[in-house]
Amino acid sequence: MDSSRLRIGVLASGRGSNLQAIIDAVEAETLKAKLALVLSNRSDAQALERAKRHGAPAIFLDAKPFSTTSPDPVAKQVAREAYDRAVLDVLKQHDLELVVLAGYMRIVTSVLINAYPNRIMNIHPSLLPAFPGLDVQQKALDWGVKTSGCTVHFVTEGVDEGPIIIQAAVPVLEGDTAERLSARILVEEHRIYPKAIQLYAEGRLHIDGRLVRIDER
Ligand code: GRF
Repeated sequence: MDSSRLRIGVLASGRGSNLQAIIDAVEAETLKAKLALVLSNRSDAQALERAKRHGAPAIFLDAKPFSTTSPDPVAKQVAREAYDRAVLDVLKQHDLELVVLAGYMRIVTSVLINAYPNRIMNIHPSLLPAFPGLDVQQKALDWGVKTSGCTVHFVTEGVDEGPIIIQAAVPVLEGDTAERLSARILVEEHRIYPKAIQLYAEGRLHIDGRLVRIDER
C-alpha cells in the first residue's frame, strides 16, 4: 500500500462521470489518492464499470432488503439507517480516509456522518445554498437566475447544507434547457471535484463552524 496516497471510497448511483473525473485525475497523478472502493446502491450503475476498468474494488449493495413500504417518516429513517449500517460495514473493510459522494441518490444518515465526521464530501449542481435537493438545473431556469454552477461541500445531516469547500459559477444562457445547462455545469464539476479532494489530501482544508478555510500555498 502506498501510504502517501489518500484512500478514498466513492458512493455513486448512476452514470459516474464525476467518478471518472476522479479516476482520470488519479491516473494523471494530479490527484494523489487511491480509489480504494466504489460502492453503489444500484447494480446497473455505470460507476461500477468505471471502477472495475480502473482496477478498483466495485461493490453493489442492494438497498431492497432494508427498504420499507411504510409512509411513516420514522420507519423510513430507521430503514435508511439500517442500510447505512450495512454500507458502513463495507466502508470499514477498506480503510478509507475520505468518503466521496458522486451522484449518490440516497440521503446519508448520521450512521455514516458520525463514523466519518467532516470526512464525507458531496458535489451538487447549483451554487448552494440556492437550490438544494433534486432537479436543480430546472429550478435555476424556472427562477430565471443568470448564474448557476456547482458546489463541493462537506456532508452534514441537513441535505446539501454542509460547509462549502469550492464553487464554480456557470452563466445561464438565453434559450438554455435543463439538459444544456446541466452539461455545462458538469464540465465545471469534473474540474473542481478532484481539486477539492486534492486540497483535502494536502491537509489544506480547515473547517471552522460552517466555514471552510483553504490554506493558500
Ligand atoms: C452530478 O450532477 C452531481 O452534481 C449530482 O449528481 C450528478 C451525478 O452525475 N450530485 P455523475 O453520476 O457523476 O455523472
